[in-house]
Amino acid sequence: MKARTMTRRLEAVFSIVPRAAAIADIGTDHGYLAAELINRGKAKHVIAGDVHKGPLESAKSYIKNLGLEHCIDCRLGDGLQVTERGELQGAICCGMGGFLMRDIVKAGPERLEFYVLQPQNGQAELRQYMVEEGYAIIKEILVKDMGKLYTAFLAVREDVLFIYDDNYQINDTNHIYRELRKDSILWSVGALLAEEKPPLWEEYINHLIYQRQCVLDGMTEALQDTDKYKVLSAEIKELTTYI
Ligand SMILES: C[S@@+](CC[C@H](N)C(=O)[O-])C[C@H]1O[C@@H](n2cnc3c(N)ncnc32)[C@H](O)[C@@H]1O
Repeated sequence: MKARTMTRRLEAVFSIVPRAAAIADIGTDHGYLAAELINRGKAKHVIAGDVHKGPLESAKSYIKNLGLEHCIDCRLGDGLQVTERGELQGAICCGMGGFLMRDIVKAGPERLEFYVLQPQNGQAELRQYMVEEGYAIIKEILVKDMGKLYTAFLAVREDVLFIYDDNYQINDTNHIYRELRKDSILWSVGALLAEEKPPLWEEYINHLIYQRQCVLDGMTEALQDTDKYKVLSAEIKELTTYI
């Protein structure tokens, strides 16, 4: 069997995964990303974890059909709890909520060298948690897949940043989050993306403005004095400065 072509979203995530001896793909589902990590030489060993039996079984059969069982270990269970200390350099979590990812990172069993995270929501809280925990966010990507925009980022533990220096040209921009105001919208949007302004940047910001404007438009006059109304209005104002 030939490996399936990954979606644009997963390809973009794949592009920021550092090469390492062992990486976990948590919430692996179909197992496509786990297989590509081996097939394209990003890792020598992969742990593909999923909390649900159905998805894990489909990953198992995909991996077996590709003949990759010897280097991909499929494990059933919650987050990184299926792994042991010392087994991994890094982990990837894609297509789940940011709050769940934060819980998965928090629960350990250890502070890995790196995490590649593609949260569907809770971006600000997840980025803030990683930075508070001593990680530097060194790469962010923005991708459009089937008409939807996604962001993902690579967070590397500060004490091992030098290992990743060559591949990611770490400079002061990568420490931008350390100085970022706690209430800045860039925690949610992506401060490195704001520096880099990739090709989809304007579309992304306009979309974020549109989402907030829709909520405001649905609020009656009586709600215009609420904190929510004020926060959304302030966010729109801040977002417009980044176009
Ligand atoms: C929407 S799918 C994303 C699949 C794949 N990572 C992707 O991005 O295409 C989310 C997967 O995460 C799994 N999942 C949810 N919570 C989990 C947890 N706490 N630990 C491990 N897997 C989890 C689900 O069973 C599901 O297979």
